[in-house]
Amino acid sequence: MSHNKDIELKPVPTHVAIIMDGNGRWAKSHGLERTVGHVEGVNTVHRITQAASDMGVKYLTLYAFSTENWNRPQEEVDALLNLISIALEQETPALIENNAKLEIIGDIDRMPDDARQRLNRSMEATAHGTGLTVVVAFSYSSRWEITRACAKLAQEAIEGKIKPEEITDEVISQHLTTAPYPDPDLLIRTGGEMRVSNFLLWQIAYSEIIVSPTYWPAYTVEEFQANIDAYRGRERRFGRTSEQVSSDK
Ligand code: FPP
Repeated sequence: MSHNKDIELKPVPTHVAIIMDGNGRWAKSHGLERTVGHVEGVNTVHRITQAASDMGVKYLTLYAFSTENWNRPQEEVDALLNLISIALEQETPALIENNAKLEIIGDIDRMPDDARQRLNRSMEATAHGTGLTVVVAFSYSSRWEITRACAKLAQEAIEGKIKPEEITDEVISQHLTTAPYPDPDLLIRTGGEMRVSNFLLWQIAYSEIIVSPTYWPAYTVEEFQANIDAYRGRERRFGRTSEQVSSDK
């Protein structure tokens, strides 16, 4: 893309998904317990949620706890479940004030009752928000949801509700936990690792990807803004040539 001053920036992304990585390493680099890194991570969630809402982002999906995270030491799992559910409960008034809505994707039946009830209360309290939707991926993994979608479709086929030839990519999208949301325009991963880690594998087929070296607790609104600006300067071709994209304008 040329760098003259007539450069046309794309609009702010409608949907930003974030892999919030690096809490543990941030804590270690400061000589602190891993859990302190997660506590600091909550502050970053607060700042970035506010910034996304201010910028006019419509959907912010945050990878808070993966299916694989259940394998961490029990002490850290318990700390994370409590921390995340309590943090979201405490964030609820701010979400309401920003006209934002909280939704959860993932296998929340695996969560302890008290944490699940906290999340359900926060979702109910924000259900009327029409601004930013904050989608928290909790006990989520992409292979889990794709497997679940396949099982549902197989069941519908057995019941004669759908024929194999009617299974299109839209039908598959409608059977994922993300059915209500458009696919992410931008995926940001903090903490420097070049991996997707079982997050939204189907949905990020055409997403732009930015990996920030910054650990999540240290990730600032300025860097988020810079990442959004970098996205806005990129051309999305969806498999077409640059010339085809330009002739659409
Ligand atoms: C990755 O850091 C982060 C997590 C597994 C948990 C993310 C949770 C939060 C940021 C808490 C708040 C979330 C919400 C939605 C309120 P890591 O521990 O894998 O870091 P490491 O790779 O440095 O070990």
